[in-house]
Amino acid sequence: MSWKSLDDMDLDGKTVLTRVDINVPVENGQVTDTTRIDRIVPTVQAILDKGGKPMLLAHFGRPKGKVVDSMTLRQLVPALENALGHSVQFIETLDGAENLTEEARAAEVLLLENIRFNPGEEANDEDFARRIAALGDVYCNDAFSAAHRAHASTEALARLLPACAGRLMQSELEALENALGNPHRPLMAVVGGAKVSTKLDLLSNLIEKVDILVIGGAIANTFLAAQGLDVGRSLCEHDMADTARAIAEKAAKTGCEVILPRDVVVAEDLREGAAFEIVRTEDCPEEAMILDAGPDSVFHITQAMDRAATLIWNGPLGAFETPPFDGATNAAAAHAAGLCHSGKLIAVAGGGDTVAALNQADAADYFSYISTAGGAFLEWMEGKTLPGVAALE
Ligand code: 3PG
Repeated sequence: MSWKSLDDMDLDGKTVLTRVDINVPVENGQVTDTTRIDRIVPTVQAILDKGGKPMLLAHFGRPKGKVVDSMTLRQLVPALENALGHSVQFIETLDGAENLTEEARAAEVLLLENIRFNPGEEANDEDFARRIAALGDVYCNDAFSAAHRAHASTEALARLLPACAGRLMQSELEALENALGNPHRPLMAVVGGAKVSTKLDLLSNLIEKVDILVIGGAIANTFLAAQGLDVGRSLCEHDMADTARAIAEKAAKTGCEVILPRDVVVAEDLREGAAFEIVRTEDCPEEAMILDAGPDSVFHITQAMDRAATLIWNGPLGAFETPPFDGATNAAAAHAAGLCHSGKLIAVAGGGDTVAALNQADAADYFSYISTAGGAFLEWMEGKTLPGVAALE
């Protein structure tokens, strides 16, 4: 571990610029999933316990350097106060942050307006970062899920102030290091989702590191088509056939066992309750689409899970949002959850879709670690250096 944690810092009487990711889903002004807010509580509490004053820096949406009223962080204040159990003083402008009112000075927790309203944030602008740095004494980054962005509040700030990782950042980094950096083996990965083209780097990296790789979702269709199978009207990137073949060859060389579907659930349309059929992968009807992995595939996947010591999961195995095409994802997730529960498997998952799928399967609570990150989790799985983490080192 080459970064400092909150335990290494003297925070007494200090303002701690705390980068958090509270980019949560909001519908009609109500937060519909508070996970990301709940997960920053230990960090804010630790800062308060050490006598520090947290000034939260965060983004919401992608306002592209302009003030966009619907993306104000003011709307998150009630949910934050509720989770933290402290009052939160909202500060609308940088001028306001530079000239704190009596009320703000007395408040325990401060929240600065959406940092992306300032063009200097995404530009990682040094002058902007200096202006922010002048607002505090210490920098704490607790936003692993934004660490793939080299922005002023995730990257430049770490170089301008004494810097440390918050509790959530720390737990994400430790869980991910245990899963991919230094795992108990056999190490298995499940990669699903829609497009090979978005997961190329991921697949190439994993093939060198994991012992068993399950390929599911529409990505699997591209691999099946590359083997010469007819996938009917399935979602498939036919132009990626060479790439898929190259990945399969590389896997054979590195000794990575690749598991593709053996049977599939096919239907003529993707609609809830649509009529479906289970066929061998080589028998997909011309007019049908592959929408899920079949029971024999699930059996094969769960057997592999029984052999694995560590599992990393990114991407659903089928069109899980539309039953009955959620069967393989649900069954495989439930199996992994059971193994975790009985201490036989360490399972780590991340990515918005993946977490939604695991929640739907009632499996997420049993997983060893659920990352709050989407894009950052993917880049980490790709083996990339995350600027927000590198800046802490
Ligand atoms: C996320 O939701 O994954 C993070 O908050 C990062 O958001 P971004 O993709 O807009 O940078």
